[in-house]
Amino acid sequence: MSGTLTLTIIKPDAVSKGYTGKIIDQIIGAGFQVKAMKMIHMNEREAGGFYDVHRERPFFKDLVAFMTSGPCVPMVLELPAGNAVESFRKLIGATNPANAEEGTIRKQFAESIERNAIHGSDSDENAIREGRYFFSDLEMF
Ligand code: CMP
Repeated sequence: MSGTLTLTIIKPDAVSKGYTGKIIDQIIGAGFQVKAMKMIHMNEREAGGFYDVHRERPFFKDLVAFMTSGPCVPMVLELPAGNAVESFRKLIGATNPANAEEGTIRKQFAESIERNAIHGSDSDENAIREGRYFFSDLEMF
């Protein structure tokens, strides 16, 4: 069975617009359990470290500026039935909200490919790495 855990971040655009509660409601409604959650305002080192794989991309600087522009809400999510990463990515929709399906979180709440409301891990391996990045004290990893 594929993994039961994934890591999400409700991003600064969605937090500042007051969408945090609505988004968490949809996540729980889809069967995910919130195992850890906090609100943080990342600095450049923290945001750059999280998106380290994108460091050489042309959008990296703007991405870090956006992710440090206000508080965000990282969460560890569990889907007990498994397949957490893929199921969550279906729930949030395509990275670019213009391509996201109706009813997905990004279709409802995202503005653009950068200000796209929410992050979801793209593999079980990254879910663990990203979970540890924000919640290093959690025993579940
Ligand atoms: P996320 O799923 O958090 O992972 C990497 C982020 O980089 C992605 O969401 C987008 O917000 C951002 N991103 C990816 N591609 C682009 C792009 N072409 N231009 C701007 N931002 C991008």
